Amino acid sequence: MTAQKPPRVTMTITAPVGDGGADSMMRHKGRAFILALYQALRATKLYPIGHSSVQRALEDIATYSREIAATEGELELRVSGEFIFVNGTRLRLDLDNYAAFSHVLSVFRVAGIGVLHAGDAAAARDWQVLLSLAQGGTDASPHDRLYEIMEKLDAAGVTAFTLAEPAAESGEDRERSKERAKRTYSQSVAVTKDLMTSVRMGKSPNIKKIKRVVQSIVDQILNEEASLIGLTTIRDYDEYTFTHSVNVCIFSVALGKRLGLTKLQLYDLGMAALFHDIGKSRVPVEVLNKSGSLTDAEWRHIADHPWLGVLALFQIRGTQEFPYRSMVVAQEHHMKTDLTGYPRPIRARHMSMFSKIVAAADGFDAATSRRAYQTVPYNPAEVMKEMRDNPRRGMDPVVVKAFINLTGIYPVGTLVVLDTFELGIVHAVNPLPEMLARPIVRIVSDPMGNLMNPGTLADLADRKDDGSFLRTIIKTENPDRYGIRVSDYFV
Ligand SMILES: [Fe+2]
Ligand SMILES: [Fe+2]
Repeated sequence: MTAQKPPRVTMTITAPVGDGGADSMMRHKGRAFILALYQALRATKLYPIGHSSVQRALEDIATYSREIAATEGELELRVSGEFIFVNGTRLRLDLDNYAAFSHVLSVFRVAGIGVLHAGDAAAARDWQVLLSLAQGGTDASPHDRLYEIMEKLDAAGVTAFTLAEPAAESGEDRERSKERAKRTYSQSVAVTKDLMTSVRMGKSPNIKKIKRVVQSIVDQILNEEASLIGLTTIRDYDEYTFTHSVNVCIFSVALGKRLGLTKLQLYDLGMAALFHDIGKSRVPVEVLNKSGSLTDAEWRHIADHPWLGVLALFQIRGTQEFPYRSMVVAQEHHMKTDLTGYPRPIRARHMSMFSKIVAAADGFDAATSRRAYQTVPYNPAEVMKEMRDNPRRGMDPVVVKAFINLTGIYPVGTLVVLDTFELGIVHAVNPLPEMLARPIVRIVSDPMGNLMNPGTLADLADRKDDGSFLRTIIKTENPDRYGIRVSDYFV
């Protein structure tokens, strides 16, 4: 067993007809291989080794890997961040293979495997040994796990594989991407403020500048979504209208990505999301910021913001290039899927996909924020549950499902009480799809309630030796009760 790359044998792959060529063939075969790998991982967990499902799954995976190795000389599987590469070709992630991809990614991550080379001699039995080693539970760090696995493969006489660590993402890289996210976020808020103020004053905003901001949000969500999502917890009270629009834009783009939209569609969606409440610039500030209950007339003012938004967008379009879909979103985002919201359409209609996405992002951010007429924000986990379970919220179930996949059942920023009596703030969704109720949390207090900042990260899917979980969420809590400002832990 060595950690070196074996020599590459000749490339004899033939390109299929049509464009894409070798790349598209690799993508196709690579995807079939990952799906087989996923089936095999699941089967070895669920059934004893001798079970026919396990054997069939292992045979499948050996066949696919041999096929790739036979045409390309070898099979190289490399995982990097959220991506999987087979022989250097990045596989496309879509909704159908989402579960398989994230499962394979997380097994590899935990086992410390960054690169796996398999020769064309790798047989079902070899895969069986590798997969059961990779899934064996231990408390060792990924680095130690990898070396443990390599030793055990040697001891078992399995020589078909060469493993290597992932290319290290240094602490510096992480800091840099966090800094980039912060810059994008504050720039977006500043640009949105400009935009709303110019519309309020009847001036035409600079759309080019706004497009650039939306593009950088899309680019960062595509490359590294966690940092920007973390920043949505800022929810600044004084700047609510602006941070709200930016948060809705971030959530919408991340949702659109999960739902398989293309980059160009994500640009349009991001614009539509950023402008969804532009009509509020035409509602008097006293009404928008009123803390008491609204009179009927004031409420009508607020309920006018969808069509006022459409008017404002038409005015912008008079002079500058602007996607039409934004107008549809401005008009529809409060309609609800059953059309019981506002404005009430005269004829039956279906909300556009963009509107459904923006409505979910909007509903979530609004309910979890502190605003003039909502001094106590709702708990993010409760809001997500309500959106999923209460049909009167008028949310699209597929979009909500993607939202829960994005943020977990306990969304980022939720304060949780653990069975160890520690407090934790949800930091990221668990990469294991079956662990949506067990996010990665930042432990922010000891069991005695002494607060710590920055605290330490803990994966709630981690288990003790006896197989029980190390930490489990008992309930969610209001951070105010503990004097905690959630955003302090994300900036
Ligand atoms: Fe709105
Ligand atoms: Fe909104």
